[in-house]
Amino acid sequence: MASIRENDWRMQKFLNKGYGLARLMLETGKLRLKIEIRLRTAPSPPKTCKFFPGSKLIGYGWEWAVYGLPGKKKVVKIPAGVFLEVNEPEYLENTKFAYEVCKKFLGQFVVESTFERRKGINMIFQRKLLGKEHFKIDIRKISLKHRESLIFLSERLLKMLEKHQWIPDMNLEKKGKVWNIWNCMFEKEEPRIFDFTYYHDPFRLYPGRTKWEIKKKGGNWRKFLKELSS
Ligand SMILES: Nc1ncnc2c1ncn2[C@@H]1O[C@H](COP(=O)(O)OP(=O)(O)OP(=O)(O)O)[C@@H](O)[C@H]1O
Ligand SMILES: [Mg+2]
Repeated sequence: MASIRENDWRMQKFLNKGYGLARLMLETGKLRLKIEIRLRTAPSPPKTCKFFPGSKLIGYGWEWAVYGLPGKKKVVKIPAGVFLEVNEPEYLENTKFAYEVCKKFLGQFVVESTFERRKGINMIFQRKLLGKEHFKIDIRKISLKHRESLIFLSERLLKMLEKHQWIPDMNLEKKGKVWNIWNCMFEKEEPRIFDFTYYHDPFRLYPGRTKWEIKKKGGNWRKFLKELSS
C-alpha cells in the first residue's frame, strides 16, 4: 500500500487472474465502496495525541491524524486509525520513498519531513504550515515571482510524471478563467507539498488506470504550463 514503485499494483490479485479492463474497473469500484464504508464508520481521531501531551488535532485525512505540538512550530502525523495498514512499518517506508522522490523533483516546494517509528507507531514530523490549502490563481494578474514558481512546479511535476508515472495528490482544475490548486499549501506565493501518498492511489490501481490518470492530470498541468509561459 502507498507504494509508488513501478509495477506495484493495488489490483495485482485481479491482474494475475488475467481480468480485462471492464472487470478491473468493476473490482476497483467494489474496493472503493468498501473504503467509503470504512471511512463512514471509523471513529474520528482523538483531539489530543496520547504520545505528545499538550498536542492538538489540527486536521486529518484517510491516512494521518495531524497534531500541532506544543510550541506551535511542528506537527506530528500518526495513523488516523481508519486503515490498519497505515501503521505498518512498510507503509512508513513507502511514504518515505514517495517523499524522497518528491524532494528530488520539487526541492524546496516539499516540506522537510522526518519519519520515525516510536512505540510501535508510525510517525511523520513536519514544520507547521500556516498557508492556505485551496489557492485560486488568475494567471493574468500574478506577479513574476509567482509565475516563475508555478512554471517550475508544473515543469517538475511533468518530469516526475514521465519518470515515475506518478505525481503526488495535488488537484489542479480550471474554473472559468481561474485555476484552482488544492491539497498543497501556499505560503505567500510558494507551494508546499505536505502529503506524499494517497491511500487509494489512482496511479497504482492497474496499468490501464495509470495511463488514463497520466493523460488527464498530465494534460491539465501541460495546459496550465502553456498558459503560464505565454
Ligand atoms: N505540515 C502541516 N502543517 C499544518 N497543517 C498540516 C500539515 N500537514 C497536514 N496538515 C493538515 O492536516 C490535514 C491532513 O493531512 P494529510 O493530507 O497529510 O493527511 P492524509 O491522511 O495524507 O490526507 P489524504 O487522505 O488527503 O491523503 C491537511 O489537509 C492539513 O489541513
Ligand atoms: Mg495522503
